[in-house]
Amino acid sequence: MLLKLTTLPGDGIGPEVVDQAVRVVEEVARAFGHQLSITRKPIGGAALVASKNPLPDDTLQACLSSSAVLLGAVGGPSFDSFPAHLRPESGLLRLRRELGVFANLRPAVCLPALEDCSPLRPEVARGTNILIVRELLGGIYFGQPRQTEGPAGNRSAVDTMRYSEPEIERIAHVGFELARSRRRKVTSVDKANVLDCSRLWRDVVTRVAQQYPDIKLSHMYVDSAAMALVAHPAEFDVLLTENMFGDILSDQAGGIMGSLGMLASASIGGSVGLYEPVHGSAPDIAGRGVANPLGAILSVAMLLRHSFKLEREAACIESAVSEVLAAGNRTRDLVTPGQPALSTSQMGEKVAEAVAQRARVDRGKVAI
Ligand code: IPM
Ligand code: MG
Repeated sequence: MLLKLTTLPGDGIGPEVVDQAVRVVEEVARAFGHQLSITRKPIGGAALVASKNPLPDDTLQACLSSSAVLLGAVGGPSFDSFPAHLRPESGLLRLRRELGVFANLRPAVCLPALEDCSPLRPEVARGTNILIVRELLGGIYFGQPRQTEGPAGNRSAVDTMRYSEPEIERIAHVGFELARSRRRKVTSVDKANVLDCSRLWRDVVTRVAQQYPDIKLSHMYVDSAAMALVAHPAEFDVLLTENMFGDILSDQAGGIMGSLGMLASASIGGSVGLYEPVHGSAPDIAGRGVANPLGAILSVAMLLRHSFKLEREAACIESAVSEVLAAGNRTRDLVTPGQPALSTSQMGEKVAEAVAQRARVDRGKVAI
């Protein structure tokens, strides 16, 4: 198969982790006999510096004409004072919208090897396997009007949270469908005791649920979901949320795992899938070669699964990551004080080696 990808390394630790994710996908292509074509383009702060546009046309066109996009991260403190449309984040938000990727999937899995990384007691974190299904193109991120007005010292600002029934319906279907290949539980998150958007959300999700009698649906207010997520994370299966609640709860899920560095994501539902680690640009450690590339590497697994239906290849990466961690390999974010840490590229190399080795074993099995 031809794997036609665009990579957008972006800012901060983005380029470092994307390099390692590319190294792993090259290994997968070699081992499983796929042809790989990768175009690398600027986005975010990197693009702003080069062309005053956080999403240059050339970058967008490259994304639209590829089969999947792998993004590192955008943003950094040097852009904090820029106006909204000239912030690195606006490039990412526009890219999501242009690609039409309304469904953001963020798995949060507590791997046995990493139980001791969680700040929660091991018996609480153990067995946690959550899939956050976050609506990505609506709500307060995109609602109009949004503006700041008035004279300095007496300004006021408004953002609008808006949802339509079709927008809620389509993301609910994604959540229920995905629950069918998991433990068949959906927890829908809202703030229906306060917000109109949330009352509509609950209403529509309940209606869509009638088409999925095999799925157990429950509703939870977002504040109570935040509490339950740390009190008993292992009880959740699919967590269905609107845009901002999903943004917040997915970082919290990362905290429960002990490091955001492990979390991968897939944004799907549009013309081209967009895959990115959840961790962001982490400017404090950028350029030092210590970032954890596993979130980006696991995002490549999601890319192969969702954009190319290459389940065997995706599973191979996931098993390789588990194996490398089980052997005790850790980047700096995962070590306990005094334990040795691998660099970003050493971790990438370990995973690439494990992928190659697993693929050899796989081929051996086929030959027998
Ligand atoms: C995320 C990030 C983005 C978001 C930012 C960078 C715009 O926090 O993907 O979770 O808020 O969606
Ligand atoms: Mg976020």
